[in-house]
Amino acid sequence: MNFDFSGKRVLITGAASGIGAAAAKALADAGAAHLVLVDLDVDRLNALDLPCETSCHAGDVADEALWKSIEDEGGALDAAFLNAGIAGNAAPFAQLSLEDWRKVMSVNLDGLFLSLRTAMRLANDGASMVVTASVAGVKAEPSIGPYGASKAGAIHMAKIAAKEGFPRKIRVNAIAPGGVDTAIWDGMPFFDDLVAKHHGDRAGALSEMAQAMTPMGRFESAEEIAAQVLFLLSEASGTITGTALVTDGGYSL
Ligand SMILES: NC(=O)c1ccc[n+]([C@@H]2O[C@H](COP(=O)([O-])OP(=O)(O)OC[C@H]3O[C@@H](n4cnc5c(N)ncnc54)[C@H](O)[C@@H]3O)[C@@H](O)[C@H]2O)c1
Repeated sequence: MNFDFSGKRVLITGAASGIGAAAAKALADAGAAHLVLVDLDVDRLNALDLPCETSCHAGDVADEALWKSIEDEGGALDAAFLNAGIAGNAAPFAQLSLEDWRKVMSVNLDGLFLSLRTAMRLANDGASMVVTASVAGVKAEPSIGPYGASKAGAIHMAKIAAKEGFPRKIRVNAIAPGGVDTAIWDGMPFFDDLVAKHHGDRAGALSEMAQAMTPMGRFESAEEIAAQVLFLLSEASGTITGTALVTDGGYSL
């Protein structure tokens, strides 16, 4: 489906990689005039080659000063994709430290709060926003406690923001992907072990996980999720607000 974002100014966090980078490309291809891009990874952020104006902000979404500088720069937003997030350490609650917990909450909830606050402050009437949650925020699974709790929180934040947005016709939805082939998996010990079992074949490791966990037998691609995000950001979803779009190949059923 083709969406038209001609002339639109859109904020994207976590824009340098994976789902955020795919969404930046899809929005630029759909005619967005200006993308405000935020990511920790300055090199990958600056390496994005997009056919539209961009302003790149390298920093931590949990840093309030970063958001003050973006607000000071001004410029109203027609849409926002609040997507930066981390997985954190995979272990049962009994084995996690408070530091493990706080690290995930810092990015996935503090960072989301600050992103959402700035997006609501800069939004034009009628703007649309999408928050990246996860199916882990819908379905309880062991050993991803901080991540799952933070993503359940993200879904509820989207619902509350949707209600707060009604007077200005601002829509806010969450997207809750299952497994997506992005860099978020790399460096997680269980995933690195699986890649080693597949003799370095990362795609083979992802495929084994997908087939074990997902009724449709495959993970989503970042480009598929980006297309669904564009639907939620576009007028094609004009009556949809406060929902969580679960896109998981049936994993949560
Ligand atoms: N990949 C999956 O299987 C999957 C599934 C469900 C949800 N998600 C969610 O999708 C979102 C995007 O992740 P992805 O899969 O594209 O992973 P990714 O690692 O490819 O991209 C995440 C991006 O966020 C940036 N980032 C991380 N912490 C940041 C911070 N504190 N401040 C600014 N930028 C920061 C990273 O530098 C990176 O560019 C995350 O919120 C993640 O939880 C991913």
